[in-house]
Amino acid sequence: MKKKFALALAAIMMTGTLAACGSTNTNDNAGSTADNTTSGTSAVEAIKEKGEIVMLTNAAFPPFEYLADDGSVQGVDADIAQAVADKLGVELKIVDMDFDSIVNSLKAGKGDFAAAGMTITEERLKQVDFSDEYVTSSQMVVVRADSDLEGDKDALDTALSGKNIAVQAGTTGDWYAGGDETTGSTIEKANVLQYKSATEAALHLANGKADAIIIDQKPAEAIVAANDGKLKVLDTKLTDEQYAFAVQKNQEDLLAVINEVVAEYKGDKVDELITKHMGA
Ligand code: ARG
Repeated sequence: MKKKFALALAAIMMTGTLAACGSTNTNDNAGSTADNTTSGTSAVEAIKEKGEIVMLTNAAFPPFEYLADDGSVQGVDADIAQAVADKLGVELKIVDMDFDSIVNSLKAGKGDFAAAGMTITEERLKQVDFSDEYVTSSQMVVVRADSDLEGDKDALDTALSGKNIAVQAGTTGDWYAGGDETTGSTIEKANVLQYKSATEAALHLANGKADAIIIDQKPAEAIVAANDGKLKVLDTKLTDEQYAFAVQKNQEDLLAVINEVVAEYKGDKVDELITKHMGA
């Protein structure tokens, strides 16, 4: 009787210890690095077991991601992500969220990777790993069609200093407008108006609340196209940026699969997808 009890107690204690272990590893950020290292070779196995890969994005960034009429997320990134899912033989699930929540959500394991026209930056590299790049882009200035704003990067930085600049929150355009040196910006004391989407930024530029928008090249063209004749994008490139997919640190096997797909798509295939979704 006593022995049985002791065994049962030992079993309970073991389960307890295991459960505690598990919850420490999933909830405690400090522990997650070590945990990810051990599971570093099996991220792909875990995804295959789930039968599903989860992509985090912000679907307010055409042509890379946008909401279609049926409510689904479409775009260049969704197409490339589908190829990743196909390669793994699993379903693709896309989770739409605010852009400035994506990196933290990925770190917290709310998705397997992020595909969001996301620029590789030093700051983000401290938190996540990036795949090889698949798109080259720049921050551009969008103004009202009747604006006479023009000039090279330095002239625009000077002209935009002290102005009302609309941006999408948490993007490199946001940092640039705020004069963040790591972006190469020399803008001083601008009033940065942070919006959740480029569409909202465009609205406030069109109605005069903002003097300019700083945003990535293709999305700049897309919002100009969507605002029939009211807005224009200036030719000057403020930055040189590379987009890549992001994954949690130490998931080399998943990164390798994504890089295979990126290698297939980079260049012509990505250009075709951009053209296809710019028209949509
Ligand atoms: N390339 C910019 C960045 O990484 C903007 C990306 C915005 N993407 C989006 N899906 N809203 O900060």
